[in-house]
Amino acid sequence: MEEIILKKEDIGKGYLILVNSNYKISNSDIVLAEFNDKYKEIKLEYIARNTLLYVLNKVLKINNEIIPISGYRTLEEQIKIYNDSLQNNGENYTKKYIAIPNASEHQTGLAIDLALNQKNIDFICPKFPYYGICQKFRNISQDYGFIERYKEDKKDITEIAKEEWHFRYVGYPHSKIITENNFCLEEYIDYLRNFIYPTNPLYFEGYKIFYIPYKNEDINLSLNEEYTMSGNNVDGFILTLKTNKNK
Ligand code: DAL
Ligand code: ZN
Repeated sequence: MEEIILKKEDIGKGYLILVNSNYKISNSDIVLAEFNDKYKEIKLEYIARNTLLYVLNKVLKINNEIIPISGYRTLEEQIKIYNDSLQNNGENYTKKYIAIPNASEHQTGLAIDLALNQKNIDFICPKFPYYGICQKFRNISQDYGFIERYKEDKKDITEIAKEEWHFRYVGYPHSKIITENNFCLEEYIDYLRNFIYPTNPLYFEGYKIFYIPYKNEDINLSLNEEYTMSGNNVDGFILTLKTNKNK
């Protein structure tokens, strides 16, 4: 049995935090790791980085065909990217492709821009086509916790244009549920509000998923089962339990 206490500041921590212009990043408290020896300057949250390397090197068995372009960014880096783009590309383009400072998932360490390795890679909009090895990555990565975050048909919700190169780690099974239902993360966080702890779980492939609303006081829980917990960065927590039952 494990006793856990969820505090207000924990709402901004975990793999399911929603970060956008409405819900800015708070202190997400992450452990960063260098991507690998070749791309030391690119950092990612430790589990996201290990999982990504596993998918690229062990599952897809590739080394260099897909490369990282941009991972974790500090606030100062996001400000610089935003301002440089304003100057070089204008306001229209910048608003489409670059999140305003503190609204960028890159500041969480959970987002990575990937590119097909070829000449003349664009830093803001790298090529990551819907065929070949990139599509293979796209298809398999949902089984390992990653989602394609900014899709064409969701840009009214995300307020970001289609970015087929930007992947976000949310963890499994959430990545699979999001992809199968064609949710964007905003929609998924909203959808989960239907599954309130402890009576009404969302069942998915051996997992039970709950939303735990935060009501201005610490939440105390005793959990017997294997679990993961994440804030949603809005108004509560997502609890994911392993279960033997499917309903
Ligand atoms: N390109 C994404 C939206 C960012 O700047 O976070
Ligand atoms: Zn990105």
